[in-house]
Amino acid sequence: MSALTKPDPPDASLLRPLRIHEVCMRDGFQSEPIFVLTDRKVELINALSRTGLSKIEVTSFSSPRAIPALADAEEVMRRIDRVPGIEYAALVPNVRGAQRALACQVDELNLVMSASPSHNLANLRMTMQQSLAQFADIVGTVAGQAQINASLSTAFGCPFDGEVPDSQVLGLVQRFVDLGISRVALCDTTGMANPAQVRRLFGAVIARWPQVTFTAHFHDTRAMGLANALAALDVGVIHFDASLGGLGGCPFAPGASGNVCTEDLVHMFEAMGRPTGVDLERLLTLARSLPDIVGHAVPGQVMKAGPATRRYPRSEAATAAAPASDRAQHHPG
Ligand code: COA
Ligand code: ZN
Repeated sequence: MSALTKPDPPDASLLRPLRIHEVCMRDGFQSEPIFVLTDRKVELINALSRTGLSKIEVTSFSSPRAIPALADAEEVMRRIDRVPGIEYAALVPNVRGAQRALACQVDELNLVMSASPSHNLANLRMTMQQSLAQFADIVGTVAGQAQINASLSTAFGCPFDGEVPDSQVLGLVQRFVDLGISRVALCDTTGMANPAQVRRLFGAVIARWPQVTFTAHFHDTRAMGLANALAALDVGVIHFDASLGGLGGCPFAPGASGNVCTEDLVHMFEAMGRPTGVDLERLLTLARSLPDIVGHAVPGQVMKAGPATRRYPRSEAATAAAPASDRAQHHPG
C-alpha cells in the first residue's frame, strides 16, 4: 500500500458487539428430571449476572403442570439481584403467563409458538391460530410495560410434521410484525437446521425486516449448532441464545437435546476476534458447577478441554511422544 492510499474502512458489521442471551435457566432446566432448588437457581442467575451476558432468560411462566421444573418462577424472579444493563426475560405461553410475568416486572416477555401445527399442539395445546390470538391479547395486555420477543419454535423443521417451508416462517414473522413485535427469535427446536438453510432463512428475514432484532436459537442435537451460529453470523445476526454447559431441550419435542453451549459459542466468537463482552473464565467456572447442580454430565466441550489458549508443560510433550509401552510405565494403571 502506498503512503497515498487510504486503508480500507473496517467492515461495519465486524464492529458490532455480539449479544449472548443465556437460556440455561429456562430451556436448560425445563426438561431436567430433578427440581433444581430455588436457592441454587437464584445463586446461579446472580453469578451469571456478573459474566457480561446481555440477557438472561430466568424462568418460564408456563403452567406448572406442564413444566414442574420451573414451578417456582415468581419466587426466582423476586429473589434474584437485577444488575442494571442486563435484561431479565421469561418465557410466556399464554395471557395468564403474561399477567404473571408482568406482576414480576420481567424486562422481556418471550412469547412462544411453533411454525408447525403438530409441535404447537404438543407444546402449547393450541392451534397456531389460537396461539396467534394469544399473542395479540398479550401485546394488548403488556401495553408497553415490557419488551416482547416472539420465539418461533420448529422454524427449521418439525419432529412431527417434517419440513417447514420458508414461506410459512416468513408469513408468521409478518404476523408478528403486524402485531407491533420488533424482536423475533427463529428457533431450531430439535437441531434439524443446516448452515445453508440458516443463511437462506436469516438472510431473507433480515433483508425483509431490517428494523426487527432477530435472534438465532440453535440446538446442537445433530452437532450442527456452532456451524449454524456461524452461518447466522455471516448473514448479519448478532443476537444468539445459548445455554450454559449445553443443557436444554423442549420436553414436548421427541428427540430434543441441548442448546448451543454458551461458553463454547463465546470461546469460538472471541477466538475469531468477535467480542461478546462475556468473561469466558467466569462462564467456565459456572459451567463446571452444573453437573453437581443437575446430577449428570453436561455436553459443553471447552469446560472439559479448556480454552484453545491453554498450554501444557513441555515435559508432558516428551511423555506424549514416548511409545505406548513407555507411557504405561510413566502412568501405571
Ligand atoms: N401459568 C399457570 N397456570 C396456568 C397457565 C400459566 N401460564 N396457563 C394455564 N394455567 C392453568 C389454568 O389456570 C388451569 O388450571 P386449573 O386446572 O387449576 O383450572 C390449567 O393450567 C389448565 O389451563 P388450560 O388453559 O386448559 O391450559 P392447558 O392445560 O391447555 O395448557 C398451556 C396450556 C399453554 C398453559 C400449557 O400447555 C403450557 O404451559 N405449555 C408450556 C409449555 C412450555 O413451556 N414448553 C417449553 C417451552 S418451548
Ligand atoms: Zn430451545
